[in-house]
Amino acid sequence: MRHLLGIEEITLEDMNQIIETAKSMKFVLERKIKKVPTLRGVTVANLFFEPSTRTLNSFLIAERRLSADTVNISKSFSSVEKGETLLDTVKNIEAMKVDIVVIRHSVPYSPHYLSERINASVINAGDGSHEHPTQALLDVLSMIEKFGDLRGLNVSIIGDILHSRVARSLILSLKKMGVKITLCGPSTLLPEYFQNYGVDITYNLKEGIVDKDIVYVLRIQKERQDGCFIPSLNEYIKYYSVTKDILKKYAKKDVVIMHPGPVNRGVELAPDVADGPWSLILQQVTNGVAVRMAIIYLLSGIPRSEE
Ligand code: CP
Repeated sequence: MRHLLGIEEITLEDMNQIIETAKSMKFVLERKIKKVPTLRGVTVANLFFEPSTRTLNSFLIAERRLSADTVNISKSFSSVEKGETLLDTVKNIEAMKVDIVVIRHSVPYSPHYLSERINASVINAGDGSHEHPTQALLDVLSMIEKFGDLRGLNVSIIGDILHSRVARSLILSLKKMGVKITLCGPSTLLPEYFQNYGVDITYNLKEGIVDKDIVYVLRIQKERQDGCFIPSLNEYIKYYSVTKDILKKYAKKDVVIMHPGPVNRGVELAPDVADGPWSLILQQVTNGVAVRMAIIYLLSGIPRSEE
């Protein structure tokens, strides 16, 4: 692997290699001194042209845990604001001898575009509504830690599927791993063509919850819609909010709740569910650092020294 552009571009073997490497990175993160010299001399540029709390900071922490040098570039503090193109910006960053470029951008396939034009490795940290591969990989690691073998598991993904890069990457990942997937949401946010992924579709929340081992909840992406996909937030809450009452009524006793964040509390997920015993949400965030350490390490091409 030279780049990580999407789950579509990688094999099950690649995924397993990343997950196994992430498991060994977790040992580093559990040490008193949570840092290894493995990537000394490697430089990573984090270009985030959309807001981020989890992805940006877990990449940054992952890079620092591996002793890589890092530089952060946001749209508002770059010369893109003065009219420079994305490619010119990245080529100039690369001219400073950067080895790996992590990019989050609102335009789908922008990481692919860059990967064909620069020599540095490119990691997709979310490209519009297209893919968010590192999120899917940290989700898979969190699921494996909880359930072991994922084959035959019943997972539902509930919410704004249409605008969700997380949903696309997660569907592609879980299909490779033999998971049975049900998508659930209002028909305007869940087009029928998603059936082409080989998943079940329901517009009924009860069907999205009954018999599921994992209920993966997505937020309504207000920034990617113009208000015409749902009549009102209140109506969405009435029919699709995952609450304690709904779980008690329909869910398996040991159901696991996941969410990529940021959570819109009281909209797609009730606060007592987000914080309750079902929730794996903060474990997902913890695993994000290990998965990103694994990806940066594997793309760097540097052999692991004895530690
Ligand atoms: N899950 C996720 O991508 O969160 P951020 O937008 O905070 O990075």
